[in-house]
Amino acid sequence: MDAHAPLIDAHCRRIDYLRLSVTDRCDLRCTYCMPERMTFLPRKDLLDLDELHRLANGFIARGVRRIRLTGGEPLVRRDVLDLVRGLGRRLGDGLDELTLTTNGLQLATHADALAAAGVRRINVSLDTLDRETFARLARRDRLDDVLEGISAAQAAGIAIKINTVALRGINEHELPALIAWAHEQGHAITLIELMPLGDVEEDRFDRYLPLAQVRAALERRWQLTPSNHRTGGPARYFDSTETGGRIGFITPLSDNFCEGCNRLRVTATGQLYPCLGGAERVDLRAALRSDDPETALDTALDTAMRIKPARHAFAFDAPGATPAQPRHMSVTGG
Ligand code: 5AD
Ligand code: SF4
Repeated sequence: MDAHAPLIDAHCRRIDYLRLSVTDRCDLRCTYCMPERMTFLPRKDLLDLDELHRLANGFIARGVRRIRLTGGEPLVRRDVLDLVRGLGRRLGDGLDELTLTTNGLQLATHADALAAAGVRRINVSLDTLDRETFARLARRDRLDDVLEGISAAQAAGIAIKINTVALRGINEHELPALIAWAHEQGHAITLIELMPLGDVEEDRFDRYLPLAQVRAALERRWQLTPSNHRTGGPARYFDSTETGGRIGFITPLSDNFCEGCNRLRVTATGQLYPCLGGAERVDLRAALRSDDPETALDTALDTAMRIKPARHAFAFDAPGATPAQPRHMSVTGG
């Protein structure tokens, strides 16, 4: 097989997007994401900087054109800026876009460096604008740092998309205000359904809020028009006449979108999970550490193309059910 053949899976989906986790650690402890006393991966098991570069180059050689760095929180990894700068050099030379998903806590410190390295857009996870709700939800009283980070990134010329997980009884009633705020600030915003990934202290069943319900509530106050806008991801968009902005809806549970999946995910230890909601896995670290890493990586990617499932299998079947996948989202990459 041609070593540099594009990545096309068994369901004829072309894969050109890599989500690369650089750490499973985080400086928040959002209750729906991880327990307060989370067990993190041993640091020695993480890919080092050189391995991350070689890995990314291997994907780019196979036609990956967009890379998103994730975590955990990618900005808690000490050498992450070196990686961003290195990958930034591939922009226009194989890569079309380099971006990251962050909780924003350390953005004020890193915004200028990210922009200088070629990062043009970032996703910031933010579920509430209420300080007390934030402190309870993230188990850390750090809302001000996030807002400061967002302002700094905007000032550095980075476009911002706010990602908000819709949570019954937590931010449910605040969502219109959060959307209006985002649009006022000139940020895009996307709402996401909660997914049953990894054990946490609470039962997520009680927190899951189908987005059709959120949309119906929004439509009682605003006129929403379905938009043809697509970013290549799972979000479906609606334009709101009143706020003059666009709202994205990501509905892994209530309205499956796997047919158009274009991505692969790699954990900080180099495990490739072709699906966030599946157990299928390929060990890229072993490939990188083998005698002929380039060939081994290509072979591993071919395997991933064969085993990538047609769709995920998560569901909220009943209260108290075990999560669909034992892996937390902070491991596979948010
Ligand atoms: N379901 C949905 N989103 C989650 N995130 C973390 N855990 C979950 C979950 N179980 C989100 C965060 C952030 C991104 C990194 O992943 O809120 O937006
Ligand atoms: Fe950290 Fe994001 Fe998980 Fe919150 S949701 S604990 S910010 S990884």
